[in-house]
Amino acid sequence: MSRKPVVLITGASGEIGHGLIEALSKTPDRPVITLDLAPLDPGLAGRVRQHYVGSILDPQLLDRILAEYEINLIFHLAAVLSTRGEFAPMTAHKVNVEGTLQMLEFAQKEGESHGQPVVFVYPSSIAAYGLPNLNVKQQAGKVREEQFNTPTTMYGCNKLYGELLGSYYAGHYKQLSIHQVRGKVDFRGLRFPGLISAITAPSGGTSDYAPEMIHAAAQGKPYACFVRPDTRIPFMAMPDAVDSLLRLAECPHERLTRTVYNLGAFSPSAQEIHDEVASAFPDATISFQVDERRQGIVDTWPADVEDSSARRDWGHSPRFGFREAFREYLIPTIRERYAALKS
Ligand code: SER
Repeated sequence: MSRKPVVLITGASGEIGHGLIEALSKTPDRPVITLDLAPLDPGLAGRVRQHYVGSILDPQLLDRILAEYEINLIFHLAAVLSTRGEFAPMTAHKVNVEGTLQMLEFAQKEGESHGQPVVFVYPSSIAAYGLPNLNVKQQAGKVREEQFNTPTTMYGCNKLYGELLGSYYAGHYKQLSIHQVRGKVDFRGLRFPGLISAITAPSGGTSDYAPEMIHAAAQGKPYACFVRPDTRIPFMAMPDAVDSLLRLAECPHERLTRTVYNLGAFSPSAQEIHDEVASAFPDATISFQVDERRQGIVDTWPADVEDSSARRDWGHSPRFGFREAFREYLIPTIRERYAALKS
């Protein structure tokens, strides 16, 4: 009896899942199954072969999926983000670390069952960095993957360890076993900057001030930005994030020189984001009311990242710079979206 070959997305009901399902559904030869605690958005449900409502921490559910499907590509998106994780660190650890471990073990079993390596795409984050203070942040310039790996949030610690776990499964799994079981997980990590989608609003992250500001302005709601105007971290438009997940997944293994890659696109200050939003929505009421605790988290994240390895190895090349992201993608798409919701 043969199982059906599919791509698996965990955390599929989240922001990245939304864009990724849409993109993958354009290639019908790659059917997708999805897993999330929440049901899929009705607009997406028709685009996937099967959606499982359940937890990545449920071994029985994972066994059912293993029995039914042959999986050679996993996008493991499920996570508790950095702000939410500080209110519930144990839960963040459970989901982000134990959940990732379960999914790596699942990938290993899949690989053992069909004999091919399972490509395991893992979004990590700028939260994996922890710069000690603002002076160092200002001097650091574009931060390389191996610098400042001293995160201060539970989410950042979890993501950094998830990267290590992935490298372990890819290169050293059961290295003392006399049977060769290594090489069944082809782990590929990318450290995303803050992501901004025109279609969905984020929840639970600390880079959320940028997307929140623009979504609030488009709906005519006032917004109080929780970081200082001079705060600067890298961001990327969601279509470029989805594109990079797909590019990395498709890259021949031998071209990859690292297991985890930085990704950058543009790096505006909160004031620059404010100015761009205010010029598109002149009636917007945007103020700055700094939340020192959330500010403290963003201040440990780099102002910019060195992403030349991703550009060289697998052709990371974001379509949208700062102005294009706002003028060609975010503003027009958000306008259209809220106008459609009103009518
Ligand atoms: N957007 C994430 C967060 O704010 C960072 O990866 O937690």
